[in-house]
Amino acid sequence: MTQRTLVLLKPDAVRRGLTGEIISRIERKAGWRITALELRTLDTDTLEQHYGEHQGKPFYEPLMEFMASGPVVAMIVEGERVIEGVRALAGPTDPVAAAPGSIRGDFGVIVRENLIHASDSEESAEREVKIFFPGRA
Ligand code: TYD
Ligand code: MG
Repeated sequence: MTQRTLVLLKPDAVRRGLTGEIISRIERKAGWRITALELRTLDTDTLEQHYGEHQGKPFYEPLMEFMASGPVVAMIVEGERVIEGVRALAGPTDPVAAAPGSIRGDFGVIVRENLIHASDSEESAEREVKIFFPGRA
């Protein structure tokens, strides 16, 4: 089942120089391909669209501030079962609960600064690809 997913390497990953390490883990998965990649600082409008589902939650405002605090690497990754697959490479939202060997488990401690976003379903992936790469919709 070939899919595509929207991946963001968050400002903490860029600041800490971990983008190469994380991209390398994704690239090494058999058959997966990066089909779009851009370093970009996100504006409020883009972030509101992306994280709209979390509006009103206590972590929303600090999350928005963090996500705008520096550039992110936005990517489209395509391949077999890539939606579930990148979520598995990332690990659960809370890095302390994430197993060593996962991206969040290896590099994260703070829930907000958990290094990577990856679409959680086919519907989310299509919605998020349109937000970040409208030309690829
Ligand atoms: P969520 O969509 O629940 O997690 P995921 O990124 O694993 O899909 O939440 C979006 C982001 O919001 C999450 O990556 C980090 C941040 N966040 C917090 O800062 N505190 C929280 O309690 C939660 C649930 C998320
Ligand atoms: Mg999510």
